[in-house]
Amino acid sequence: MTDSAYPQLFSPLNVGQRQLANRLCLPATVTNFAEKNLITERWSNFLIERSRGGAAMVVSEIIAVDPEAVAQATTVIGFDDRNNDGFRATAEAIDAAGGALVAQLWHPGRQQLWHPTKAPAGVSDGPDPYSWTVAHVMQDGDIRKLVDDFVAVAKRLDSCGLAGIELHGAHGYLINQFLSPWSNLRSDDWGGDLIGRSRFVRMLAAGIRAACRADFIIGLKMPGSEAVDGGIDPDEAARITAHLAADGVIDYFAYGQGNFSLSLENHVPDMYFQPGHFLEIHKKMRVAAGGVPVMALGRIGSPEEAEQALVDKFGDLIGMSRAHISDAAFGIKARRGAAETIRPCVFDNSSWGEIHQGKPLAEFHNPMLGYAGEADWQPQPADAGKRVAVIGAGPAGLEAAWTAAARGHQVDLYSASKQLGGALRLEAALPGRGDMARIIDHQHQQAERFGVNVHLNHPITAGDLGRLAVDNIILATGAEARPPEHAADMDGPLISGRDYLRGPAREHIKRFKKAVLIDQDQTAATYGLADRLAADFDQLIILTSRPNFAQAVNYCSSIGVYRRLYGAQVELLPAVKPVMLQAGVLTLENVYGGPARTIDAVDAVIYVTPRRVMDGFEPAALAQIASQVLRIGDCRSPRNLMAAIHGGHHAAMAV
Ligand SMILES: Cc1cc2nc3c(=O)[nH]c(=O)nc-3n(C[C@H](O)[C@H](O)[C@H](O)COP(=O)(O)O)c2cc1C
Ligand code: SF4
Repeated sequence: MTDSAYPQLFSPLNVGQRQLANRLCLPATVTNFAEKNLITERWSNFLIERSRGGAAMVVSEIIAVDPEAVAQATTVIGFDDRNNDGFRATAEAIDAAGGALVAQLWHPGRQQLWHPTKAPAGVSDGPDPYSWTVAHVMQDGDIRKLVDDFVAVAKRLDSCGLAGIELHGAHGYLINQFLSPWSNLRSDDWGGDLIGRSRFVRMLAAGIRAACRADFIIGLKMPGSEAVDGGIDPDEAARITAHLAADGVIDYFAYGQGNFSLSLENHVPDMYFQPGHFLEIHKKMRVAAGGVPVMALGRIGSPEEAEQALVDKFGDLIGMSRAHISDAAFGIKARRGAAETIRPCVFDNSSWGEIHQGKPLAEFHNPMLGYAGEADWQPQPADAGKRVAVIGAGPAGLEAAWTAAARGHQVDLYSASKQLGGALRLEAALPGRGDMARIIDHQHQQAERFGVNVHLNHPITAGDLGRLAVDNIILATGAEARPPEHAADMDGPLISGRDYLRGPAREHIKRFKKAVLIDQDQTAATYGLADRLAADFDQLIILTSRPNFAQAVNYCSSIGVYRRLYGAQVELLPAVKPVMLQAGVLTLENVYGGPARTIDAVDAVIYVTPRRVMDGFEPAALAQIASQVLRIGDCRSPRNLMAAIHGGHHAAMAV
C-alpha cells in the first residue's frame, strides 16, 4: 500500500513470477508511428513515456507474427531481426523506469480491417462481417506452423529483454475467431466444443511457456462479450476463462468487447457509454479466472474510477488506453496528488479515427504525443517576456493563452461572450456530448494556473486594438455559419445550427412539426444537433450531397450515430442538394443526375455548412499595432477541434 489517495491503484501486484509496481497499465494501442514495418524512435517513445508517466505495465500495439498477414507499413513485424535493437532499447528504457514492456502478438485471420493483408488465412470460410473477406481456411499443418511462428516471435522478444507478451484474442482477430462459436465452424480438433475451440490458444500459451524464461509474462486479451448472436457472451467467456486458467500457463487476462461487426462500437466505448461501462463483465471474469489477475478496461478515465474498480473487485489491473493517449503522465499526476492537472480524455474517439485512416496517432490536446520528454513536458520559458493579446476564447484561443502565459508572457484573453469555449461550449450542451466541456475546463484551469487575465463579455473591435498596447496579437475569433447554396430561393424558416442552439429562435421554431437538417459538415457535433432536433420535432429528415453520412466521424462512433438516428426514426437522404423552398415544399436535386424530388410540409430548415472566417480586422492596421500577428483555429481556416488546439499551441510556442 502507499500513502497516495489511490492506495489500491498504487499497490504492487504479482503477475506470473514478476511483481508489477502498481496496477496501472497501458493496454495495446496502435500508433502508426512505425515506418516500413520497423520500429522508430517515436514508436518507442510512446511506450517509454507512458512508463515514465507511471504505468507499471505497458502493452505494445499489435506485433505481426506472420509475413503473410501484415496489414500495412506501420505494423511492426516481430519476425524480423531488424527490429531486435528497437525492441531491446525500448525494453531497457522501460525497465529503467521501473516498468514492464509486454508485446501484443497479433494475427488478423479473416479480419481484414481497412487494409487487406497479402494472404488472408482464417479458421472457417464465413466472410469477415466488416470487409466481407473470405479467408483461406487453414488446414491442420497450417495451424501448427502458425503456432510455431507465434512461439518464435515470443522467443525473440524474450531474448530482447521484454517482460512478456499478450496474445491478441479479442476484437474478432484470429485467436478470437478460433474461440468463438460464431466464427469457428470447424468439426475437426480445432473446432466444435469449447475444448476444441480453445486448443489453438492453449497450444500457443504452452509453446511460449516452454520456449521462454520462467518469469516471461503470458497474457491473453479475449472477448468478455462479442455482442453478436451466437458469439461469445459473458457466460461463454467465463467458461473459456476458467478452462484456460486451469492450465496455470496464462499470467493475466484482459477483456475487449465487440468484434469487427456492428458490435465494434463496444471495443472503444465512446462518450455515449457510461464510465466503466463493461466493468460488470470483468467482475464475472475475475471470479472465473480463479486468482489469475484480470485487467479491467473500457472507458475508465480518472484515478477515482480506477481506484473504485479495484475496490469493487472488478479487476486486479486497470487498463487505460485513451486516458493514457491524452496524458502520458496520468499515473504520476495521480500518485502525486495532482489528479486535477491530468489532461482529460473525453472519449470522442478522434484518436482512434486517426489511426484507422492510416495516419499517425494524434490527439486533441496533447500536441507532444509520442515525443521524448512527453511525460514531464512543460512549455519552455520564452527568451523575453512579452505582452500578448489573445482575441477569442474558443479552444484555440484558450490553448494559445495558457501556453503563452506558461512560457512567461503577460497574456490578456478577450472573449466576446460571457462564457469561455466558443462553439465547443455549444457542442457540449448537445445530448450526450457534455464531456466535451472538460476540454474547456482543463484549458481554463491551466489559464488560471499560469495567470492569464481573462476578459469575458469583452468584444474587441478594430478601434479597440490600438489601445491594447501589446507586442503580439493572436487572433482566434472563430468562424460563422455560411448560408447554404440557393438560400436566396428558400422562402421559410432557414437557420444555422448554431443559431438554433444559441437563441430564442429555437423556442419559436421547435413548436413546428417537420424539420430538415442540411448536413454539409458530417462531424459528430452535427449528429449531436440532429439528436436534439429529433427530440424537438415530430419528424426530422437529414440531407447531404455526399453519398454517405458521418464521414467525419470515426468508424466506431459512427455506428452509434446511425443507431441513434435510425432509433429516433430520422430519415436520411444522401446525394441530394436543396434548391428551393416555397410554401413549405422543399425541392431537392440529385447530385449524380438522378430524378429531383420534393419534401412537403417542411416547417423549418436548419443548416450546418462549411464555415466562413470571422475576423474583421485589417491586416495593415494590425501590423502597425503589434510586431507579430498570428491567426489560429477557425479564423485562420475553419477546421476541426484538433487543428484548433494544436494551432493554439504552436502559436504560443512561436511568440
Ligand atoms: C488508438 C487506439 C488503438 C488501439 N489499438 C489496439 C491494439 O493494437 N490492440 C488491442 O487489443 N486493442 C487496441 N485498442 C483498444 C484498447 O486496447 C482498449 O481495449 C480500448 O481502447 C478500451 O480501453 P480505453 O477505454 O481505456 O481506451 C486501441 C484503442 C485505441 C483508442
Ligand atoms: S482524441 Fe478524444 S478519445 Fe482520443 S485520447 Fe483524446 S480525448 Fe480521448
